[in-house]
Parts: sequence; C-alpha cells; structure tokens
Amino acid sequence: MMRKNIGAKSYVLPQPVFIIAAYDENGIPNAMASTWGGISNENEISICISSERKTLKNIMLHGAFTVSMSDASFLEACDYLGNETGNEVPDKFARAGFHAVKADFVNAPLIEELPFALECKVKSYDEKEWRMIAEIVNISVEENILNENGKVNLDKFSPLVFDRGSRNYHKIGEKVGNAFEDGLILKNR
Ligand SMILES: Cc1cc2nc3c(=O)[nH]c(=O)nc-3n(C[C@H](O)[C@H](O)[C@H](O)COP(=O)(O)O)c2cc1C
Repeated sequence: MMRKNIGAKSYVLPQPVFIIAAYDENGIPNAMASTWGGISNENEISICISSERKTLKNIMLHGAFTVSMSDASFLEACDYLGNETGNEVPDKFARAGFHAVKADFVNAPLIEELPFALECKVKSYDEKEWRMIAEIVNISVEENILNENGKVNLDKFSPLVFDRGSRNYHKIGEKVGNAFEDGLILKNR
C-alpha cells in the first residue's frame, strides 16, 4: 500500500448536497446548491454562502431559509440551481421545475418535490468569511420516507452526495451497521 498526499482542500467524503431556499422582497422563491456546510451542536447548521449569491441577499431580508436534500430524481434541477443565479434569472426556481410552499416555522419556502428539509433561522453571518450560522427550528419530512417508528429510512430516500475531487454526484448506499452499538463488541471483550 502506498499513500499519496493530494494537498490541502476543504474535502471530506461524502459531502451533503444542500438546496438552500429563501424568498425575495416580493415573496418570489429562489434557491441555490451548496456543499460547503454541515451541522454543529444539537440544532445548528453552518454553511459558507458567498455574499454575492441572490440566496444570501434573500436570507438576510427575512432572517430565514430552508435547507432541502434531494435524491437522484431531481439531480438536474439541483445542479441547475448551482449554475444559474437569481441575480440574473428571477424565475430560476420555477425554471428548475420546483414548486414552493411556505414553511410552517420560518418565513422561507419549502420545495414540494424534495422530501427532507430543515427550517432555519439566521444566528450570524460573517461577510468576510462567508460563514452563515443558523438555528434549525424544525425539520419537515415527507411521510413516505419514514419507517414505522417515524424515523427517516435511507432505504426509502437516498440523498445525493458530492465528491469534490471528481465533481461527481453519488447516492447513499445500503445500511451496513448500527451506530453506538456495533463497536461495543471491542469495548466489552
Ligand atoms: C455542487 C455545487 C456546490 C456549491 N456549493 C456552494 C457553496 O457551498 N457556497 C456558495 O456560496 N456557492 C456554492 N455553489 C454555487 C452556487 O450554487 C451558485 O453560485 C448559484 O448560482 C447561486 O445562486 P443564487 O445567486 O441564485 O443564490 C455551489 C454550486 C454547485 C454546483
């Protein structure tokens, strides 16, 4: 086995593909793709959103946004949202083929087609570092991706993930174990 150094990059595997959505000043929804993000603490999300993004401007107007996840069936629409800007194309959201409905807990759009979404309120935004930190105030889920215990079942919903190195999208694979459980065999022997 030979290891290789591939340099310093913000590169972890896999990276979630977030679809971030917010309303403009007229209530028109807009959305963008983001992979520079992750969770922190019990109910917090941190995402680097460039200050140029229309989505960022909209988020700052209302102090709120949603973060949806998609499976491969909406891959083209999600990638499109990462390649066109609402600064130039005001009906970008509709062009993606998505439909918006207001979230229950924040003034931001849920995307009807995407079954898993966080509803978020802005805690802080660092203009220089582009770092948005937000409180997750609710998670809105389509019932058909839940199992009988009310938990999301990744056999029913396979969210897109991103490989920054090759710029490929992948989908989540099958279950292979139980967290907080399978390692105990080593602890107790
Ligand atoms: C896979 C992918 C990941 C992206 N991740 C980010 C990100 O984390 N932060 C960011 O500011 N832009 C990111 N972008 C770029 C924005 O999605 C893109 O600039 C988009 O056009 C912004 O739309 P808006 O101006 O309508 O908000 C990403 C694009 C793609 C395709």
